[in-house]
Amino acid sequence: MYPICGPIGVFDSGYGGLTILEKIKEQLPQYDYLYLGDNARTPYGTRSFEVVYEFTLQAVRKLFEMGCPLVILACNTASAKALRSIQQKDLPYLDASRRVLGVIRPTAECIGELTQTRHIGLLATEGTVRSGSYPMEINKLFPDITVSSIPCPLWVPLIENNEFNSEGADYFVKKYVNQLLEKDPMIDTFILGCTHYPLLMQKIRKFTPPHIQLVAQGEYVATSLSDYLTRHPEIEQRCTKKGNCKFLTTESEEKFQESASLFLHQDILVRSISLE
Ligand code: DGL
Repeated sequence: MYPICGPIGVFDSGYGGLTILEKIKEQLPQYDYLYLGDNARTPYGTRSFEVVYEFTLQAVRKLFEMGCPLVILACNTASAKALRSIQQKDLPYLDASRRVLGVIRPTAECIGELTQTRHIGLLATEGTVRSGSYPMEINKLFPDITVSSIPCPLWVPLIENNEFNSEGADYFVKKYVNQLLEKDPMIDTFILGCTHYPLLMQKIRKFTPPHIQLVAQGEYVATSLSDYLTRHPEIEQRCTKKGNCKFLTTESEEKFQESASLFLHQDILVRSISLE
């Protein structure tokens, strides 16, 4: 049997993964991509482990059905709560020759070089914070780093509802940033540990002292994917290369098109699908 060839799948609960896709496309424009946003069921950040796992598995199945040899979970919540189970439990029977990768490990790997004080702050969804995945992954690689975390449950709804530039957003950005700084005043680096958060970058910068650097994940995930494809020619050869990018959403096509175009600054081709 010939191995299945197709686009690289990129999955998020909503629009957040577009911030990752954008950076991946900048570094690796030659590949085809298929983006899936589960906009109808976003946010995932406040949902239980079982539900996030079930929804993410449905998304991976769909992207496999559409021919993706490799799927990137461009969502920290899904990476924290579902990646390991999918890799260990589901992949062997779904299709052991395909791969599913997440965004937490590539972020953890870069952090050692970025912090001087060895005190890191994590801004993320409730689910990602509660999973403890970031401190675990970072301390495996850099045991001397202290990670303090604050969940920001209102940030994703502000972004999904296109309110991220509003004055109301100021209040909630300031609130969570201050909570994190109160927890550990030694922090010199914030990880924006949710792929939606780069859309709030300007506001987060506005309320964060200038000596603190803000780390968005896109570039690190893109570099890590590029390394991965170099180290795994058996997967790389199965990724088609026509430079196309298509989009799937569980919401209406019009809604996705309108909002995603705002983030991507271009018109896109989108199809509505069901994951249930
Ligand atoms: N963009 C996601 C993440 O990186 C998920 C946000 C959500 O659905 O709550 O965590």
